[in-house]
Amino acid sequence: MSELIITTPERVRPRRLRRTPALRDLVAETGIAAAQLVMPHFVLPTGKAEVPIPSMPGIAQVGIETLVGRVESDLALGIRAVLLFGQPHDGGKTPDGAAAAAANGAVQSAVRRLKETFGDSLVVMTDVCLCAYTDHGHCGVLRDGEVANDPSLLPLVDAALSHAEAGADVLAPSDMMDGRVAAIRDALDETGHDNVIVMSYAVKYASAYYGPFRDAADSTPGMGDRKSYQMDCRNVREAIREADLDAGEGADLVMVKPALPNLDVIRAVRETSDLPLAAYNVSGEYSAVKAAAANGWLDEPGVVRENLLAIRRAGADLIISYHARDALAGGWL
Ligand code: PBG
Ligand code: ZN
Repeated sequence: MSELIITTPERVRPRRLRRTPALRDLVAETGIAAAQLVMPHFVLPTGKAEVPIPSMPGIAQVGIETLVGRVESDLALGIRAVLLFGQPHDGGKTPDGAAAAAANGAVQSAVRRLKETFGDSLVVMTDVCLCAYTDHGHCGVLRDGEVANDPSLLPLVDAALSHAEAGADVLAPSDMMDGRVAAIRDALDETGHDNVIVMSYAVKYASAYYGPFRDAADSTPGMGDRKSYQMDCRNVREAIREADLDAGEGADLVMVKPALPNLDVIRAVRETSDLPLAAYNVSGEYSAVKAAAANGWLDEPGVVRENLLAIRRAGADLIISYHARDALAGGWL
């Protein structure tokens, strides 16, 4: 008798829905659209250059002409957003990072070229920070040997305005100074750039995963580390606070970074914020996969798919990833 009322293994079978690819696709809870991927680019203040970054196989610093060619082929793959990082002209690094705001800088020139060439079929995002332009490599200016918050806001606002002036669609401040979203938003609105979007690196941890990026952007701090401004990886309540503050200051999107060690943080911010949420699958996450794949230790397509899906499942809407081009070109997703 008891057999009849027990839920038998034969009755409940999750495997039924896993039997064929069509069934699995039918009930998949998450996916990644090409339109949700953002491809980062390191732009040099030169025309056709292409300088491979040894710690990031497959990624290079590129001159503007080379950049335009890559963006064109990426658009054909469905990548409709780019995030640009720049470099000053030789000898352009100074204590206050003023070259970050140069109207003819690499990023500003690249933005103008990309918008002229592709118009609104491409979303052009720019990283707003000082670290590639300061001689000490910190993201703000120094006072008495410390990264000083409020004195850093003006040079950051100048950089942001120069990107807006060049035609950037989205400004992404990554410096982690308090109050910079409000300062940038106000300056944009006062100068007629009220349509320019601010995507805040709201939740940016001090992370060892940024190592390869610092080679690529030539932005390693000359002394000390970034722990007095980037977040402590022991904290998650603080992440919610940072995201709330930036939303209150007028951010249109918020970001969590790095992505993979912080999937719980992505989930926490997803559940407490209504803003679109970006996750940055950073340089070290990319390099680790590439190194293991190059050794034959990991299957790159499978790992990349699993990583990007995990980031989406955690709650990210858009993903900034150096894998974007390979993943779409290879049909890995
Ligand atoms: C600069 C900046 C960094 C990254 C994005 N903007 C590095 C840092 O803060 O040291 C990291 C991106 C990556 O590792 O891919 N403020
Ligand atoms: Zn920086």
